Amino acid sequence: MNLYDKIAHIPDFPKEGILFHDVTPLMADGEAFREACQTMIEFAKKVNADVIVGPESRGFIFGCPVAYELGIGFVPIRKPNKLPRETLSVSYDLEYGSNELHVHKEDIQKGQRVLIIDDLLATGGTVEATIQMMEELGAEVVGCAFLIELEELKGRELLKDYDVLTMLKF
Ligand code: PRP
Ligand code: MG
Repeated sequence: MNLYDKIAHIPDFPKEGILFHDVTPLMADGEAFREACQTMIEFAKKVNADVIVGPESRGFIFGCPVAYELGIGFVPIRKPNKLPRETLSVSYDLEYGSNELHVHKEDIQKGQRVLIIDDLLATGGTVEATIQMMEELGAEVVGCAFLIELEELKGRELLKDYDVLTMLKF
């Protein structure tokens, strides 16, 4: 199946000048969604991940099926004021605006092999912040997997030291 056909491109969303790549048509198609998740599952096996870490909110959608299939844990990365226990946090920039990300400190163990999964690599700000938190907690980032890479924004340049999977490039 051509997964490229399952991505919708919406100009001037959420702001003028931004071209939004919408993954919801792919998610709404069971076969396409499964194929996308399956590719990430194979990558997770290849890098021998023992935990999946996914940034809110679209990272949850693609990260959880991988964790479930492999019988490993899923640890959410969340925006401020969502996680009730002690967190580690870091500020980051994204394609439009900036934010702060948090993770529950106790849920990542030293030496764990972390695979970060998200729907989209744009500037790389989100994944860079996530990597920073994982490494501060003593985990090893063994890979980063994305459905979409926006090549123009050069997020990959921040990931030179990591094993990166991107499935669809725009
Ligand atoms: C989008 C996307 C990635 C991030 C990529 O998330 O889902 O997480 O931006 O951009 P970057 O590489 O420039 O950091 P967003 O923060 O819009 O939130 P959402 O997943 O909750 O929709
Ligand atoms: Mg996101």
